[in-house]
Amino acid sequence: MNEAIRQLFPVTRHYAYLNHAAVSPISLPVYERMNGYTRDLLERGLVRYREWGEAVEAVRRSAARLVHAAPDEIAFAANTSTGLALIANGIAWERGDNVVSADCEFPSNLLPWQRLGPVDGVELRLVPERQGRLETEEILAAIDDRTRVVTLSFVEFASGFRHDLATIGRYCRERGVLFVVDAIQGLGALRLDVEACQIDAFAADAHKFLLGPDGVALLYVRRGVLDRITPTVLGWMSVESPFSFQRAEQPLAAGARRFEPGALNTAGVVGLGAAIDLFLEVGPERIERYLLELAEYLRQGLQSRGYEVVSSPRPGERSSFLCCRHPRHSAEALHRLLEAEAIITTPRLGRLRISPHFYNLPSEIDRLLEALPA
Ligand SMILES: Cc1ncc(COP(=O)(O)O)c(C=O)c1O
Repeated sequence: MNEAIRQLFPVTRHYAYLNHAAVSPISLPVYERMNGYTRDLLERGLVRYREWGEAVEAVRRSAARLVHAAPDEIAFAANTSTGLALIANGIAWERGDNVVSADCEFPSNLLPWQRLGPVDGVELRLVPERQGRLETEEILAAIDDRTRVVTLSFVEFASGFRHDLATIGRYCRERGVLFVVDAIQGLGALRLDVEACQIDAFAADAHKFLLGPDGVALLYVRRGVLDRITPTVLGWMSVESPFSFQRAEQPLAAGARRFEPGALNTAGVVGLGAAIDLFLEVGPERIERYLLELAEYLRQGLQSRGYEVVSSPRPGERSSFLCCRHPRHSAEALHRLLEAEAIITTPRLGRLRISPHFYNLPSEIDRLLEALPA
């Protein structure tokens, strides 16, 4: 990646920041777009609300472009957790239905489904992670004629394992099972095509690989499943014509916008928009290729220093980040030691998680490798 891109990320002046699977720094364009909005609020209040409304719709269009969806299939949610819970709560469950997922999912994608057990009599079937991997075959084998939803992360948060979304999506669609994805650990780093992967809904906050601010998420709901997912949080903005206040009884908004009950986090949305524009400009394919190569470079370096890399080496299962262990040094100790050297990572479930992004350089990986004890 070139120097001009790197200049957009002032964080590089202070740190080798390799922690995008936790919280990303934002870029200058994101900062400036958010500042533009807050400055306008400061000086003009709501006077230019139409322009900002149009700016929000432009973000909806670029988000749709990024994931190969239609703009009316994109809603903005407060975070990934809210997006996933809106889907889980919106399904007309019947006692004895089941949901298939994995035991290594982040709590955001377990709690909304676990809650359905006592409330609706829905069984949650969790396929186990083994040595940093999940078997697609095992996931598919857990599906039966009472399965209503399969829900998985695009990339698992504590292993970097990337699911074969296309195979799972196809299997689900053939059986009328909803396929729901927690996309936060992949989107931005890896390309996501909702059509090709036959995804019915996904949620992803902006603050990880999307390089945007926190507290604003994309919630994709496929047009074809809108009749199967009822919005359970309704508000003035969920309807077709929100500004016709006297018409309380109105049809719901035609698309995914029905999942937006009230005022949006406009600063967050426009900031996310600037981040997406940068991805579209640099090129998602180029970014993905660069990150997969960088991760392989890191893998070799870690292994040669005696670290056990938990993340799967298989081509379709690799992602942009790696999780590793050392026989003697704990992940917490390694994280602290690196932080003292201005190298930012995170310990997760006893593993050190190293998660670069496209503005990071191989020389920063070298710095990390040199700082790691053998
Ligand atoms: C896989 C995964 N899903 C969800 C979240 C949380 O998302 P949010 O804070 O946007 O709800 C995280 C990390 O914080 C995560 O790793």
